[in-house]
Amino acid sequence: MIQLTVNGQPRQFEGDPAMPLLWFLRDELQLTGTKYGCGVALCGACTVHIDGEATRSCATPMSFVAGKRVTTIEGLSAAGDHPLQKAWEAVNVPQCGYCQSGQIMQAAALLRQHPKPTDQAIDEAMQGNICRCGTYQRIRQAIKQAAGVQA
Ligand code: FES
Ligand code: FES
Repeated sequence: MIQLTVNGQPRQFEGDPAMPLLWFLRDELQLTGTKYGCGVALCGACTVHIDGEATRSCATPMSFVAGKRVTTIEGLSAAGDHPLQKAWEAVNVPQCGYCQSGQIMQAAALLRQHPKPTDQAIDEAMQGNICRCGTYQRIRQAIKQAAGVQA
């Protein structure tokens, strides 16, 4: 049996340890804010935090998260009021929205490591998160707004 913590709650998993974390989150816990895009760690739609690190849940087996702390978009803040979520709303970032929870989780990990990120740091951190709607400019603007740096 695999034991882990998801959004602060203890959870257990008794299935195939090779199953991707993404399916556990979506199908067993109904945490559907984390999206399936490519399934092969190339788009970032499935990004969650594992012990604070931005990680692609589609390519992370359940065996890897034993004893670890997983945070999804639902657990990023209690009331959806993380500074990034507020900035995302203020800047009106999303279009279709499909990639956006992954974008926010990736950005949240960035701001934890670099509270005042440079353009270069933003680009490096966010380059693996694909947005088919092309909201990249607004994503960068919202990250800067949340960080309190000049947009
Ligand atoms: S669905 Fe995981 S990176 Fe694309
Ligand atoms: S908002 Fe549509 S894919 Fe990013």
